[in-house]
Amino acid sequence: MNSRITGIAIFTLSMISASAQADAISELEAVYRTQGVSQFSASSGEALWKNDFVDSKSAETRNCGSCHGADLARAGKHNTTGKTIEPMARSVNPERYSDTRKIEKWFLRNCKWTLGRECSAQEKGDVLAYLKSL
Ligand code: HEC
Repeated sequence: MNSRITGIAIFTLSMISASAQADAISELEAVYRTQGVSQFSASSGEALWKNDFVDSKSAETRNCGSCHGADLARAGKHNTTGKTIEPMARSVNPERYSDTRKIEKWFLRNCKWTLGRECSAQEKGDVLAYLKSL
């Protein structure tokens, strides 16, 4: 393949994956709307992301950054396993937020661990509004 054609192919692929990502978040927004949410707020999402929650059993302070780190453009480190977690900001990690099931799975786990309960549709929509802006 000559380089011009390769260039066009890569460009086309990146456009396709960019629209797939936009779709996963808009699909979830559509679901959250059916659950009664009318507006999504990136600033409320950011506030939730940065809020410190106290675990009722261990009295340990937890927040979303406990594993994802303070700078979402950089890799995080899992609080208990020590494993590296790729950056959350799509500006540096275009693979983020491309699969609705993956997003919901991790919301469920991470909200339970961090907040001690599941996140509401409003909270999830707000957090995604924040994350997609990064
Ligand atoms: C105990 C560690 C931990 C904490 C705390 C944590 N996360 Fe995560 N999170 C992970 C891991 C591990 C993954 C999956 C690996 C990956 O996507 O890189 C993940 C993935 C995600 C994803 C999926 C991203 C995608 O590309 O689909 C979302 C959304 C998410 N977390 C949101 C949150 C929110 C919101 C909080 C705070 C309420 C939070 N996380 C706190 C460990 C954590």
